Amino acid sequence: MKPFILSFILFSSGILATTRASPAANVKTYAIHSTNKSLVVSRQTSSSKLVFCHFMIGVVSDRTSSSDYDADMQRAKSLGIDAFALNIGTDSYTDTQLGYAYESAANNDMSVFISFDFNWWDATSDAAAVGTKIAQYAGLSAQLLVDVDGTSYVFASSFAGDGLNVVTVRSTASAAGFSDIYFAPNFHPGVGDLSVIDGALNWLAWENDGDNKAPQGGVVVTVLEGDQKYESALSTTQGYIAPASAWFSTHFGPEVTYSKNWVFPSDLLWYMRWLEILEMQPPFVEIVTWNDYGESHYIGPLSSPHTDDGSSKWVNDMPHNGWLDIAKPFISAYKAGASSPNSYITSDEIIYWYRITPKDLDCDSTDTTMVAANNDTGNYFEGRPNGYDTMADDVFVVPLLTAAGSITVNTGAMEYTFNAPAGASAFSVPFEVGAQSFALSRNGAEVMSATSLKVIQNTCPCGIYNFNAYVGTVPEGTRDVLGADGLASLTNGLKVACEPTPSLPVTPPASTVATATSSATVAATSPPV
Ligand SMILES: *[C@@H]1O[C@H](CO)[C@@H](O)[C@H](O)[C@H]1NC(C)=O
Ligand SMILES: *[C@@H]1O[C@H](CO)[C@@H](O)[C@H](O)[C@H]1NC(C)=O
Repeated sequence: MKPFILSFILFSSGILATTRASPAANVKTYAIHSTNKSLVVSRQTSSSKLVFCHFMIGVVSDRTSSSDYDADMQRAKSLGIDAFALNIGTDSYTDTQLGYAYESAANNDMSVFISFDFNWWDATSDAAAVGTKIAQYAGLSAQLLVDVDGTSYVFASSFAGDGLNVVTVRSTASAAGFSDIYFAPNFHPGVGDLSVIDGALNWLAWENDGDNKAPQGGVVVTVLEGDQKYESALSTTQGYIAPASAWFSTHFGPEVTYSKNWVFPSDLLWYMRWLEILEMQPPFVEIVTWNDYGESHYIGPLSSPHTDDGSSKWVNDMPHNGWLDIAKPFISAYKAGASSPNSYITSDEIIYWYRITPKDLDCDSTDTTMVAANNDTGNYFEGRPNGYDTMADDVFVVPLLTAAGSITVNTGAMEYTFNAPAGASAFSVPFEVGAQSFALSRNGAEVMSATSLKVIQNTCPCGIYNFNAYVGTVPEGTRDVLGADGLASLTNGLKVACEPTPSLPVTPPASTVATATSSATVAATSPPV
């Protein structure tokens, strides 16, 4: 770490060793008061505020006991997550895994509830089966119950499902002994009948074009606009579940039947969205997701046991644990009704992330999506993922600081220095290929520093367009790697040789001596599009 700081001292005396245009103009800073309060209505139901996290049962068929869930339960609970929303399809292993998950949750003082995935369940014919399934688990001790006016309700939710006969769901559950169900599915305003449900989950945690893709053709639907749509469609006694997600990118070619290849704008979304959540103070928040590796929005560890459908092509060596660290003070603030996470930050940490290749890198000759594939969903595109241009080639930095400090980012020898305030703040700088180093100093003395284990490269990783993010922290977190099951299909469909093994080095690459420097001070700017 010392060489890095020495080079900083050397070049911060005003010597610019390159003729690059001053990058200061490119630096974006993000202030804590950046959202528009009048856009969202603050509202409370009679239940206290709860944080859920969406958990895919469909990727954990390899778990063999409840203890295989313990680490997830403990980690989620330690962050302030109240319950996992257990997303289920109709696989043969679903009940076995639900049983393990409910048992582990009970052993770890966590709560869980079922979230029916209507990609697999049939909204037109499965209403009674949904009611039966809710009742099957409703009496277990880990089942999430919410209290409304003194009555305890069994909580249940969904992904999609508009058109489901909710009267039948309730009557079936009631006949099985559970008449009080708090049903908060992912019905859509203007599509499903919201009058028959107790609350609703909004899944769209990403800015979009109104048609499940990144903004395009001048159409931009913000996440806040989605919130507003739900809030105006729901009555004040119905509970809105506001989504929060950190990322979205997926890149499946013809090697699977559900080929899909697109991104939503992600960048600093995780930070910006939590600011919105603090202003909105919705009754419920659902983090999307814990372990959906295929769409890159996992905040759970790579080591969380799971199977692989080939998503390991873009997940291997790409831990997201730093995002959990950001969530923690924000969850505490949300529950306390606070507008800032700052008083919940108890130690200094820098969280950073970036994509690992420039977006104009050409991988056409070796990418897995350069051929025709099933496009029944309209989600398949060839080459770079649809919407890729909404992602910035930036390093994103969120310092969580107990006191103000100076943050230095050395991205491939281009060095930036920021004055970061006490508390949470966010910065982004254009990235350069090479090693990525980060440091915190106060009064000219280094407090901590680290070089990322992952370089930014101008070669195609495993030959593909990988738009997932690498998330790192200073101090460096515990090493987190995919297990054997999580790597099983890495090579499936690849056109170049690529080892299905974790390959992050144990020690970081040498940092690059800075050849140019820039400094910037914090200034409030609007969030990016
Ligand atoms: C905030 O939102 C309101 C309602 O959409 C709009 O009228 C107002 O101009 C916005 N203010 C700012 C500063 O963007
Ligand atoms: C798949 O369908 C979508 C929606 O119709 C379309 O925009 C896209 O171009 C199609 N993909 C391919 C590879 O043809």
